[in-house]
Amino acid sequence: MFFVPEIIEKKKRGLKLSKEEIDFIVNGYVEGSIPDYQISALLMAIYFRGMDEEETTNLTLAMAYSGEMVDLSPIRGVKVDKHSTGGIADTTTLVLLPLVSSVGVKVAKMSGRGLGHTGGTVDKLESIPGFKCELDGKDFIDTVNTVGAAIAGQSKNLVPADKMLYALRDVTATVDSIPLIASSIMSKKIAGGADKIILDVKFGSGAFMKNYENALELGSLMVKIGELAGRETVAYITDMDQPLGLAIGNSIEVIEAAETLKGRGHEDLLSLCLEFGSEMMVLAEIEKDKSKALERLKASIDSGKALDKFKEIISSQGGEPRVLDDYSLLPKANFELEVRAQADGFIKQIDAIRLGLVSMKLGAGRQKKDDIIDPAVGIWIYKKVSDKVTKGECIAKILANDKEKLTWAADETRAAFEFSSKPIARRKVIWAKITKSGVTEL
Ligand code: URA
Ligand code: CA
Repeated sequence: MFFVPEIIEKKKRGLKLSKEEIDFIVNGYVEGSIPDYQISALLMAIYFRGMDEEETTNLTLAMAYSGEMVDLSPIRGVKVDKHSTGGIADTTTLVLLPLVSSVGVKVAKMSGRGLGHTGGTVDKLESIPGFKCELDGKDFIDTVNTVGAAIAGQSKNLVPADKMLYALRDVTATVDSIPLIASSIMSKKIAGGADKIILDVKFGSGAFMKNYENALELGSLMVKIGELAGRETVAYITDMDQPLGLAIGNSIEVIEAAETLKGRGHEDLLSLCLEFGSEMMVLAEIEKDKSKALERLKASIDSGKALDKFKEIISSQGGEPRVLDDYSLLPKANFELEVRAQADGFIKQIDAIRLGLVSMKLGAGRQKKDDIIDPAVGIWIYKKVSDKVTKGECIAKILANDKEKLTWAADETRAAFEFSSKPIARRKVIWAKITKSGVTEL
């Protein structure tokens, strides 16, 4: 029998918690026998004292087993899941899912809804008329077996410990702790049932991790947890100091995904999808050679096969596949306003979080968990860091349904762009890859 104040005291002094103590805490919290105030104190102690790899893995597993464990074994082949730590305008999953599925990788994707300035893949897909992400367990598995891919909202009973802990962290200023983030993410991936995991750990102004070193630490810890938990994990460290690609919103990110699958996407987004896609093919044992995998993905885009797969996925989940050919079938905002450069120069920086917040306040995201999303609104950006602009040139476009917010959003968007009179280097998108054998800087 354990005594909660003693466990808090131990962590307060920087000592290591045992597996039994961690199990006791997580189970007690989920069952309701340990109150919020004791867990709050423990979270703050963890925030300051940290946890080592073994403690973090034990916390991850205790959380994962707090609810339903998804069984993907009825799906043939090696199942690989891809997860991003969250960013602005992250359209990757919308492109990656059909892309890898078109070359034979089976994808059973459970995805979240957006909260705050980060968008959720489920919300983006639901901007397609008819599209439903509420697949029950059997439908989900059957769809993956027949179509090759399915995307479902996270089941209510997946990792209840994380739902409770995350809500508590949110109001006790303990979100930004590396072991707590790592266990939160990995518990959901492990309960989600994939054999192997690819993580996109983002850093920069639009991400949880503001700098490269912290992102590297988070990525390395999650790879280690994956290894200790018997799920091979690869982590990439990628840039989120400016929005990814050009669209920030919901229906416009569907357009962006379609454009990318038609071979007309922005190269930032495309390069990320090709890297993750070829890595997924290797992990899924569809292709041994990474460069061959890359060639196959490019060929699938060129031939239209990847776009056709996206249509097939949309149809199989009740959506209207013609939206990919005729974008006017997607929800459209009533008002548009172009944002123009006020001087000649080069784009030095784009404040991703500021744009994420503008997009959220236009209605593309949620401020509170039960807010309703407006699928049509958002921001198109036309210039990225290092691009040259001339005075009067259009750098972005605001899409709004509330006319009152139009001018405010345009002013905020203009202010998010920083200009330089001297040329600026392009930002690297993929910075490093972490596997169990170590870090490779790219
Ligand atoms: N994403 C999660 O799922 N959990 C965290 O703690 C942070 C980001
Ligand atoms: Ca985007």
